[in-house]
Formats: sequence, C-alpha cells, structure tokens
Amino acid sequence: MKKINIALSLMVALVVLSGCNSKPKEEVKTYKYTTDVVYKETCLHCHGAKGEGVAEKKSPAINKLSIQELEMALFDIKNGGLGQSTASEHEVMEHNMKKLTEKGYDYDIKAMANYIFTTFNQAK
Ligand code: HEC
Repeated sequence: MKKINIALSLMVALVVLSGCNSKPKEEVKTYKYTTDVVYKETCLHCHGAKGEGVAEKKSPAINKLSIQELEMALFDIKNGGLGQSTASEHEVMEHNMKKLTEKGYDYDIKAMANYIFTTFNQAK
C-alpha cells in the first residue's frame, strides 16, 4: 500500500511540474501568416526576391545585416524607435509596417530576423 502511495504522489508531482513547464511565461501571440508568406507577399515587393533591395523603391538591401542588426531594425520599425531615442531612422518603414499590420501581415521580430538572415544573408 505504501509503495502505491509513493508512486501515486510521484506521479502527481510530475504532472504538476510538467504542467508548470508547459505554461507559457508570456501570452503567445499567434500570427495569421508565416514569415515566408509575409515576406513574399509584402516585403519582397520593396526589398527584392533575395533581400537585395530595390533602387526604384529606395529600399535598402537587407541581405547583409546580421541577425542582431535585423532584430534591432525590426524592433525599431515595429515600436517606433529604440528605447529612449526620439528620432527614428526608419520612418518610412514604420509607416509601411503600420499599414501591413492593419492588413494582417504582422510577424514575430525574432522569427522574421531569423527568416531574412537564413534565407538571404550573403556573409554566412
Ligand atoms: C513600400 C516598400 C516597402 C515594403 C513593403 C517593405 N519595406 Fe522595408 N524598407 C523600405 C524602405 C524605403 C526602407 C528604408 C527607410 C526606412 O527604414 O524607413 C526600409 C527599411 C527596412 C529595414 C531596415 C534596414 C536597415 O538597414 O536598417 C528592414 C529590416 C526592413 N525594411 C524590413 C522589411 C520587412 C521585414 C518588410 C515586410 C514585412 C518590409 N521591410 C517591407 C521599404 C519597404
């Protein structure tokens, strides 16, 4: 009988523990489209099929930026400035991003930086 009790309480403890682990720390945001779809349907138009940039659109190449640079740029673009800095270097892109978000083309910053880097980066 005692053995069964120990086994039972162990199982209960395991269930409780694993339950805690699987609980997300922050609310997980879900996105309508994958980064691949977002890029191809929106960003590609201005940044090119290889992230090389499009001169007529005055859009820069994004295929030479590191993951960190991409994350920072995307954070700036989506949040209207980096931390305390008042001036933004990405005003055009911030405006673009607001429009894209309204149309449902939102994305996770880390996922998009990772997608752009692994798909296009030349310095790999
Ligand atoms: C209508 C054209 C247009 C579209 C669509 C567009 N961009 Fe841009 N993007 C620009 C222009 C122009 C700039 C440079 C000026 C600026 O940053 O405001 C830029 C800048 C950027 C930068 C900063 C590059 C750097 O060196 O700092 C990143 C990163 C970027 N875009 C990513 C994206 C992603 C990801 C998408 C799709 C979700 C996207 N852009 C869609 C025109 C566009």
